[in-house]
Amino acid sequence: MMQLIQIVSFLLMIKLSNTNEYCDSISGKCSENNENIYSKEYYVYLTTYLRKNADYQPSNDTCFESNIADDLRIFKNGITKEMLNNAYSKGVKYQIINHELYRSQECLFPTRCNGVEYFLIQLKSELPDFECVINFYDWPQISKHHGSPVPVFSFSKTKDYYDIMYPAWSFWDGGPAIKIYPKGLGRWDLHRKKLISVSKEIQWEEKKKVFFFRGSRTSSERDVIVQLSRKEKDLVNASYTKNQAWKSDKDTLGYPPAEEVALEDHCIYRYLFNFRGVTASFRFKYLFLCKSLVLHIGNEWNEFFYNHMKPWVHYIPLRTDDTENDYRKLMNFILKEDKVAQEIAFKGYKFIRNKLRMKDIRCYWRTLLTYYSKLLKFQPKLDETLKKIS
Ligand SMILES: *[C@@H]1O[C@H](CO)[C@@H](O)[C@H](O)[C@H]1NC(C)=O
Ligand SMILES: *[C@@H]1O[C@H](CO)[C@@H](O)[C@H](O)[C@H]1NC(C)=O
Repeated sequence: MMQLIQIVSFLLMIKLSNTNEYCDSISGKCSENNENIYSKEYYVYLTTYLRKNADYQPSNDTCFESNIADDLRIFKNGITKEMLNNAYSKGVKYQIINHELYRSQECLFPTRCNGVEYFLIQLKSELPDFECVINFYDWPQISKHHGSPVPVFSFSKTKDYYDIMYPAWSFWDGGPAIKIYPKGLGRWDLHRKKLISVSKEIQWEEKKKVFFFRGSRTSSERDVIVQLSRKEKDLVNASYTKNQAWKSDKDTLGYPPAEEVALEDHCIYRYLFNFRGVTASFRFKYLFLCKSLVLHIGNEWNEFFYNHMKPWVHYIPLRTDDTENDYRKLMNFILKEDKVAQEIAFKGYKFIRNKLRMKDIRCYWRTLLTYYSKLLKFQPKLDETLKKIS
């Protein structure tokens, strides 16, 4: 560790301010050739990598509970009946009363409700009475910029929302239904098993040195890599697939839609891209289990476990406004520093494999609902209009 810190400070001492010069730290020689691997960006990447890994302290949370504390802090003075009254129109009402689970009659996305109820049913015998409102749309509901906090559970949000994050329904059911997953992406337990077993069969050295992305155009932030792929066919394999909204090639950036690729078929590629979708992308957690390097673009959209994963430790970050040139520089660095890429890939894999198991999802729900119920300033009474879920 000490040695690492010395290397970091040594590298940081190298003068990088003169942008036309690129210096070799070993020989002290400088050149004006920006093809030189000792370019300014190269040092920035390397020092960032070393510093982030030296600073990294794994959290001692059992199941991401510091995130629960963050989300509930705004409600520390308690959640009143009136606050919940403002929440009912934003989602589906749930109650646990005397260890039985109840829900509004209506649920617009039955498989999504099922994906959440799977966990609540398992936990109902351990949980105190409470009521809460769960939003099943992708988009969060309670903006910090309009009005006061309202307790609504959502699976994904940015820092601009008060919503309380919960583990997405797709850990069990109700994920995006595409041609290769007609019943919707779900059953994290089964996908985990399959991906872990596939990743064991493909050694790092056997993985193609190709940057890979396959998905639909739910956000234009994905365009940079798809455009780059059309120029660098040997290095980048990134194209858009159809989604339900697809009408013409315009929706796949002027090219015919590509075939969908099963998650386990991603593992043959050494570098995998993750972009936001409508909100956070469900794809994120799956990619790590390939034991390939994940490049994660943007840090705005989060799920409950994201802030425990660190850029340059578990994945390599890019910003949403990065240009093709930024992508190229970073990709060059990754190709040259294969050991760095492999180490980050392995740490990302280990994190998801060891920390994001089905029992961790149950643990999160249990902890979240236990803390949440303690904040309620009223004694929940059974709402007779709800139906019992068993
Ligand atoms: C976990 O870490 C926090 C902050 O570093 C510390 O305050 C707390 O005592 C630790 N808890 C345990 C159980 O080690
Ligand atoms: C891109 O990836 C797809 C899916 O793995 C594969 O079928 C195709 O051959 C690849 N294209 C190139 C140019 O390698």
